[in-house]
Amino acid sequence: MTKYNFHHYIDRQNTDSMKWGMTKNLFGSEDVLPMWVADMDFEAPPEVIEALRKRMNHGIFGYSYVPSSAGEAMRDWLSKRHGWNIDLSWILYSPGVVPAIGMAIQALTKPGDKVLVQSPVYTPFFNMIKNNNRVVVNMPLEIKDNKFHINMRDFEDKLKQGVKLFLLCNPHNPGGRVWTEKELRKMAELCLKFNVVIVSDEIHSDLIFKPNKHIPLASMDNRFAGQTITFMAPSKTFNLAGLQASAVIIPDERLRRAFQAVQIRLGITSINPFGAIGLETAYRYGEEWLEELLQYLYENVLICKEFIEKEIPGISVMMPDATYLIWLDCRKLGLSDKEIWNALIKKGKLGLEPGPKYGPGGEGFLRMNIGCSRNVLFEGLNRLKKAFS
Ligand SMILES: Cc1ncc(COP(=O)(O)O)c(C=O)c1O
Repeated sequence: MTKYNFHHYIDRQNTDSMKWGMTKNLFGSEDVLPMWVADMDFEAPPEVIEALRKRMNHGIFGYSYVPSSAGEAMRDWLSKRHGWNIDLSWILYSPGVVPAIGMAIQALTKPGDKVLVQSPVYTPFFNMIKNNNRVVVNMPLEIKDNKFHINMRDFEDKLKQGVKLFLLCNPHNPGGRVWTEKELRKMAELCLKFNVVIVSDEIHSDLIFKPNKHIPLASMDNRFAGQTITFMAPSKTFNLAGLQASAVIIPDERLRRAFQAVQIRLGITSINPFGAIGLETAYRYGEEWLEELLQYLYENVLICKEFIEKEIPGISVMMPDATYLIWLDCRKLGLSDKEIWNALIKKGKLGLEPGPKYGPGGEGFLRMNIGCSRNVLFEGLNRLKKAFS
């Protein structure tokens, strides 16, 4: 017996949802089914909704601070779920991980400095580097056995080129890889060797499918902790992205002060009360909901894989270790990215993310968001089939 009903379809039209309300702008037509931007079509955990409602009913929304109980909830969550014991003083807050990437770049590098990324990867990684007048150094990931892998020799070669900061995506978006202890250790040792600061974006770290295990990079070794800034947030996990609450965990005082100095310069040192309440309540009471969600999502992954293998032979699914984002390899279709896009939108009426958006290595791929009820998933899969059969 399950407690939560993820099958339940909720109409998100007319809620200013980016995913559902921008189809005409983005795909040129209202009748495109949106399975693109990374939020889910599920209600947040009931405890979170109730806590927000209670706060809203108070009716006064003056200046607020983030109570220490929010940090405690996060600290307890990280300890229980990931075995990472953090100090409350290490936590800073940001209205999002993307703004925090910008702050970290400003705090730890100078204009013209080199920042390393591993493509294909979450698009704002590139944008935040470029928009802050830093230089992208890219090391493409390799695909072996239908999974992304890191060529460590290439990684070292790239670091040697005078890289100042490494932006790591773990778990990886769009490939859903949970980097292993061995991979993380190797990367971190090399970053220490070349004195490169690691910014570890771990926003997807609670959406892990068993038996995979997320290891916060900074939790592995005090030396790594001293060189790492970690981003964590309840936004993907509990579907709270619109509340704009995320945390930046910085054990090293020197790095923390540098990051804080940028926050102060920008006047962005806190988050809104709804974000803080969402964060605290989700980490305090959301575990049971999350366990059921993960089961539902994993079934969605399996359904998606089985359907595509059977019905669309030109596409193959990269099985994710984590997240509700599926990286679809469409290269066997023999179409250009433009042809893939036209078929997807015009024939299939399906709104996915185009692979090239994620940088080199994204060509010939699509990213599909399966964080939705089963009916929507099947509708999406049938549209995908229509587009490419
Ligand atoms: C790796 C990664 N980082 C950051 C974000 C967005 O974070 P935020 O909404 O907190 O800016 C996403 C959203 O998809 C993501 O996949």
